[in-house]
Amino acid sequence: MRYLITGTAGFIGFHLARRLLEAGHEVTGFDGMTPYYNLRLKAARHAALTQFPAFEPVIGMLEDRAQLARTLSRFTPDVIIHLAAQAGVRFSLENPKAYVDSNLIGSWNILELAREISVGHLMMASTSSVYGANPEVPFRESDGTDQPLSFYASTKKSMEVMAHSYAHLHRLPISAFRFFTVYGPWGRPDMALFKFVKAILEDREIEIYGQGQMSRDFTYIDDLIDGIVALSAVVPSEQHRIEVAGITDSLSRQAPYRVVNIGGGQPVALLDFVDTVEKVLGKPAKRKLLPMQNGDVPRTYASTDLLMALTGAMPSTTLEDGVTTFIQWYLDHRGELQL
Ligand SMILES: NC(=O)c1ccc[n+]([C@@H]2O[C@H](COP(=O)([O-])OP(=O)(O)OC[C@H]3O[C@@H](n4cnc5c(N)ncnc54)[C@H](O)[C@@H]3O)[C@@H](O)[C@H]2O)c1
Repeated sequence: MRYLITGTAGFIGFHLARRLLEAGHEVTGFDGMTPYYNLRLKAARHAALTQFPAFEPVIGMLEDRAQLARTLSRFTPDVIIHLAAQAGVRFSLENPKAYVDSNLIGSWNILELAREISVGHLMMASTSSVYGANPEVPFRESDGTDQPLSFYASTKKSMEVMAHSYAHLHRLPISAFRFFTVYGPWGRPDMALFKFVKAILEDREIEIYGQGQMSRDFTYIDDLIDGIVALSAVVPSEQHRIEVAGITDSLSRQAPYRVVNIGGGQPVALLDFVDTVEKVLGKPAKRKLLPMQNGDVPRTYASTDLLMALTGAMPSTTLEDGVTTFIQWYLDHRGELQL
């Protein structure tokens, strides 16, 4: 199969592309190498993918529709997996424009081009942040998501609703997935695990927001990739609604459009998370407890019932195993990549 993946120099796009290339597929990776974090890390991810002859990297911005169109005219994909985005809750307070450009304009360009080539399946990355302060746990795809707390979440929710209208108007099959705090080797330097490990090793304080009372549903990268790959074969169609007792299929009644959580399904309190990091590193953290930051949600907790019913995929990596794999990777690469 031929896949166009956006965001292949990013954490998730890199892992997804590598998995598909290893399975013998062709992948074109589109990424703007934005300076949001360490560009050495992004370049190293693309360099690793370039080892596969079936990988073609394209450096460009999503906002540049002409370049995206040229890419698609050379390589007509069976599936588009749109992961490139301006991510991060906190940075959306500082630089909201980056989110409008990448997540709204950029995602709209992807929708337009997917429509033009009538792609067989468009998959788009959304986030657990769209659930805001949802008091119901676990978070189900059918829960309300129209009260986001961060501008990041509001741009992702907007992407979801733009996608629904394109799916309806142009009969374009679209799956939107909501990821829950993904972690693992080659991870993102702005996320908690990366920051905590780096600070502990450098004898600096770690900043724990929400006085440590927040919890997150951590998802190990390999489990997430299993979910994405399995879902790529489940093309939404109004004729195929799943009928399983106790599970509400999020499939739209007006469009070949479905939203699916991909999360670990086992939320962990932040202080327990820090305990695990300390245990694996064999070194205590200097803990600095701080109030919740503006835009943060108190908890995330995925219902994985729909993912399971659609694909049989079930996240299974324990937090301790996942943290161990991350730390091993970090120690092996921190010198070369200046992490
Ligand atoms: N990592 C997580 O825990 C998590 C959780 C929920 C949702 N997501 C979503 O998953 C997707 C991938 O996340 P990630 O963790 O791999 O992030 P990442 O920042 O590592 O990767 C995103 C990539 O997109 C590229 N990019 C950003 N804006 C661009 C633009 N306008 N044009 C072209 N390229 C651009 C960046 O250069 C980067 O390589 C994102 O859509 C993110 O919002 C991630």
